[in-house]
Parts: sequence; C-alpha cells; structure tokens
Amino acid sequence: MSKTIGILTSGGDAPGMNAAVRAVARAAIRKGMKVIGIRRGYNGLIHGDMFEMNERSVSDIIQRGGTILYTARCPEFRYEEGLQKAKQRCIEAGLDGIVVIGGDGSFRGGADLSARGIPCVGLPGTIDNDISCTEYTIGYDTAMNTAMEMVDKIRDTAQSHDRCSVVEVMGRNAGYIAVNTGVACGATAIITTEVEYSLDNIINKINQTRKSGKQHFIIVVSEGIGNSVQIAKEIEAKTGIESRATILGHVQRGGSPTVRDRVVATQMGYYAVDLLEKGIGNRVVGMQNNKIVDFDIQEALSMKKPFENELYKIADEISF
Ligand code: ADP
Ligand code: F6P
Repeated sequence: MSKTIGILTSGGDAPGMNAAVRAVARAAIRKGMKVIGIRRGYNGLIHGDMFEMNERSVSDIIQRGGTILYTARCPEFRYEEGLQKAKQRCIEAGLDGIVVIGGDGSFRGGADLSARGIPCVGLPGTIDNDISCTEYTIGYDTAMNTAMEMVDKIRDTAQSHDRCSVVEVMGRNAGYIAVNTGVACGATAIITTEVEYSLDNIINKINQTRKSGKQHFIIVVSEGIGNSVQIAKEIEAKTGIESRATILGHVQRGGSPTVRDRVVATQMGYYAVDLLEKGIGNRVVGMQNNKIVDFDIQEALSMKKPFENELYKIADEISF
C-alpha cells in the first residue's frame, strides 16, 4: 500500500524552507505517496490543522522566503500529553512518517514522536548554521548574503561621515553568520562568543589603523555577544570617532533564497523522502564533505561543531 507522509516547518523560519517543502512534496508524489501539509509546526499536528497537498500546492514557491506552511514554537509538544495528542492525529490522518524542517528543538520533538511510533526525519532549517551534524543549514547562505548587503550599505554612510559602525548580526549563540559577514565586508573586527576578545585591543587597532589614514570602521558583533549599543558608545568615548550601532534583526530571516539554499533544500528534501519510503525514522539529514548524509537524531544532537577559527584568524590578521 502506498505511504502517506506529512511535512511541517517548526521554530524560526529560514529562506529555502519553501524549496524544501516543494522537494519533499514533489519527490513523494512522484513515488506515488500521499502528502499532507501540516500548518504551524507541532501546533498544527496537535490541533489537526492539515491539508492534502498535490503537485500544484508547491508551485511558485521555490523562490519565496518564509514558509507556506507557517511555523510556530509549540510548548505543548514538550509534554507527554501534547505528544500523545499529536500521535493520535497522525494515526487519524494515516501518516506513515513526517518530515520536520527546523532546528535542534524541532529535532528533539521529532525524536520524541519517532519513539512513539511515528517515524520523523529532520531537515536542518535555520539561518544560524548552528546544527552540529551538518556543515550547512537551509537559510544560512541567504541570511549571510542579506547581512553582507546591509553592512555594505552601512559602510557607505559610515565612510561619508568618518564614523565607526557596530553591526549586530543574528545567529543566537553561534558566530557563523558574524565571522562570514565580517570577512565578506572587510570588517576591522569581528566579535563572537567563540573567540575571546578584548574591546581595548579592538580600540587600539582602530587607533593604529587611523594613523595609516583609515577613517571609517566596521565592527561586526554576533547576537550572542549583544551589547552593540554599549560597544559603540565605548568606542566613541575612547577613540573620539563618532560611532553608531545597528542591529540588523529579522531582515536576515527574509527574502528570496539564494541558489545554494534552493539547491541544498532540494537535495535534502529529496533525500528525506527516500528515508521515509524505506520506513526509516528518527534521522536528521545533513551535509558532510558536501555530500548529503543522515544521522540518528540523538547522535546528531550530541555532536559538537567546530567554529571557523582559521577564517576568524585570517580576518583578524588582514584587517588593518
Ligand atoms: P528550533 O527547532 O529552531 O531549535 P525551537 O527550539 O523553538 O526551535 O523548537 C521548535 C519546537 O520544537 C518547539 O516549539 C517545540 O514544539 C519543539 N521542541 C523543542 N524542544 C523540544 C523537546 N525537548 N522535546 C519535544 N519538543 C521540543
Ligand atoms: O534561529 C534563528 C533566529 O533568527 C536567531 O538568529 C535569533 O536568535 C532567533 O531566531 C530570533 O527568534 P525570534 O523569531 O523569536 O525573534
């Protein structure tokens, strides 16, 4: 008998989630499966907010940011009662498996549901690139490119006014967006939680580079550090250079996904359907050495991801 699979997006949205939804739906329909879209993450599962998708349900979405399935954070799903309600809805809808597109929290939910008899496969969807089992998460490239464009614009005005601009980028506690954006924009300094820093050293660097004629400065700060307004104030107080702080915020979560996000989302979505077709659940799909692979969810959650120390070091050495 042909299988029925569900798709949901959960946690923070990310550009490329729609491309993943499209790939999952189309790959499953191609294999003769029935596809159920579940709205607003685990909320939709608990409350039965689902609809049958056909091949046209995912037309014209590959280029769109956000998620047509909507997304949510669902506290109820962390408890047995919520999980049991969700399981019951899955049985009623005849779901043989679910593709969960989200981050670590969403995978924990997927593991819990898999343990209760509903196989779930996770796809890494977050701009933060903070999922350990994968080199790459859907949305990361678009977010970095958006951040880069924004910093370029900020540089125009910082240059005109001979100012220092402190720009805070997203990433929760991870500094991947910060280090790559900083490198791409030629920042004078990058401040992230992964690498110890001293604001006094950064201020010394600003003062030194001023002597060679540099008159405007970009400092990229990761969200995990925060305090960008305070950092700007301190730089201004100690250098006399007029300084401004900009928190880029949710602009980084939107927009049309880049080629990389669309392609990886498509590859991962296709791969996830293969797993569910074989009845394999409790897995997370990831990328290692540029190849699509999968891991047991618990194993994936226990992995550690190295920071881009080498890249950080290069940026630090050549920004003067
Ligand atoms: P992300 O998936 O981006 O890490 P969250 O941490 O907000 O985002 O998690 C998304 C959703 O996954 C939560 O709202 C909740 O429904 C579910 N979830 C998170 N943690 C757990 C957990 N420990 N057990 C079960 N479900 C969880
Ligand atoms: O995980 C993606 C992310 O945008 C983080 O970079 C940020 O810390 C968080 O989500 C913001 O979440 P919210 O949508 O609740 O403001």
